[in-house]
Amino acid sequence: MEQTCTRRPSLSDFLVVANRLPVTRGGAGQEETAWRRSPGGLVSALEPVLRRARGAWVGWAGCSDQQVAPFTLDGMRMHPVSLSARDVAGYYEGFANATVWPLFHDAIVSPTLIRDWWQRYVEVNTRFAEATALAAAPGATVWVHDYQLLLVPAMLRTLRPDVSIGFFLHIPFPPTELFMQLPWWPDLLRGMLGADLVGFQLARDADNFRRTADMRGLATAPPGSGGGGHVHMGGRAVRVDAFPVAADGAVLASLARSDAVRRRARQMRAELGDPRTVILSVDRLDYTKGVPQRLDALDKLYAQRRLDVDRHVTVQIVTPSRERIPQYRELRKQVETRVGRINGAHGRLGQPAVRYLHRSVDRDEMAAFLVAADLMLVTPLRDGMNLVAKEYAACHPDGDGALVLSEFAGAAAELDAAYLVNPYDTDQLARMISTALDDAPDDRRRRMSTLHEQVLRRDVHTWAREYLSALGATRTDAHRRTVVGGDRPRPRAAAGAPTAGDLWREQ
Ligand code: ADP
Ligand code: G6P
Repeated sequence: MEQTCTRRPSLSDFLVVANRLPVTRGGAGQEETAWRRSPGGLVSALEPVLRRARGAWVGWAGCSDQQVAPFTLDGMRMHPVSLSARDVAGYYEGFANATVWPLFHDAIVSPTLIRDWWQRYVEVNTRFAEATALAAAPGATVWVHDYQLLLVPAMLRTLRPDVSIGFFLHIPFPPTELFMQLPWWPDLLRGMLGADLVGFQLARDADNFRRTADMRGLATAPPGSGGGGHVHMGGRAVRVDAFPVAADGAVLASLARSDAVRRRARQMRAELGDPRTVILSVDRLDYTKGVPQRLDALDKLYAQRRLDVDRHVTVQIVTPSRERIPQYRELRKQVETRVGRINGAHGRLGQPAVRYLHRSVDRDEMAAFLVAADLMLVTPLRDGMNLVAKEYAACHPDGDGALVLSEFAGAAAELDAAYLVNPYDTDQLARMISTALDDAPDDRRRRMSTLHEQVLRRDVHTWAREYLSALGATRTDAHRRTVVGGDRPRPRAAAGAPTAGDLWREQ
């Protein structure tokens, strides 16, 4: 292992604990030393929250077999947890992403059960809990995130009973029968119940969780009572509730209004040949996102000449994701084969039907794409929330544009003014795309204005405040402090550490 530095971490009053730090080193064909923004909605949501709170983040730096010293990034203290290549294979690519991830997403692909992976998961969760216990000040507030760290709340409670522990799951929580397919489900349940507050995206996730707790005789409020309630665990009442995650609405809306982004959006449309309609999709390349099904619907529309390449250009942007896991490699092949087939059948020389980008883009470029798009297709087969849908609505303050949204995205529970669709039914999906394109301009505008208002009214800072004040209310501990929106002094950056610019750099 490359040894860089072993300094004792400073103590923090507010910590986020997540598998990944907001910046990642190496991977995706990058040099091992280059830092880039980490992919996914969890980072998009938490990074603005933690930056404002000037808290600390415990997470993996994305490289294996390397010790990365703690560093400061834009006022946030980073505590890297190191993973060996075997940890990455067993804990991250194995148990977290080939067992829990598919199972919690309705087993869209079959979850793999391997006992060694579970052992790694336990070991790595222990390491995260230990790193957090070392970094937390007395009475600190610790917010643990997502399916990679389900055991951390209980482990941390054993190590540090003085801290306030929140847990939030960004992905769906499955129905009891699915969850119980995991031989280790009681351990995972106990792990989550180490928190004072267990938060979910939707009331139905919270209901599923409480039904499962009920199987162990732990639930105290009837499922179906709106997702809220308590579960009794080891003499403690653990609050369980729904807190739908939100987008950084105001920042995106003002970016979308900025001259630079508007100019770039116009330039993009010109580069696409100034078509009448730009259709856009932006996804992490994951089988939950329904990319092949969506391409099939577009294929139909181009074949039936309801879309034609002179007037309608489709842009599909995908972020590379989990590329060493076989199902993800297979998905990439499926997607790229379809894009090739559609362009071969319906495109013309220099005028493809689908423009395909397999890379991350920086925040301003992303905002320009969202502004440039007349129609946004967000059609996951299953998604805890889907921030792209909310980001698109945030980028359309003037009511232009239209959003076709899957009923199976958590976002659909709030954004019901979108054109809602069942993404498994490619005929319905094709029809809904046509409807959204042909709808009366006033109706489209009314829908989009409603969506924009919604995402601005409740942004990511509201989400964090709602969650953290509910967490605060679970403890009457005198040590507790206010953590969101505080004015803490900025620690100085360490030499060689990533800079704030790395959060937004193109991959
Ligand atoms: P997930 O968390 O499953 O990836 P979300 O839609 O909730 O899905 O969040 C994805 C986040 O990643 C959004 O904030 C979106 O803007 C960002 N994103 C997705 N694709 C790209 C890309 N190609 N380049 C840059 N950011 C991307
Ligand atoms: C989703 C998960 C996050 C994860 C992200 C990116 O948003 O909920 O926990 O970080 O995908 O996935 P990755 O495996 O690259 O961290």
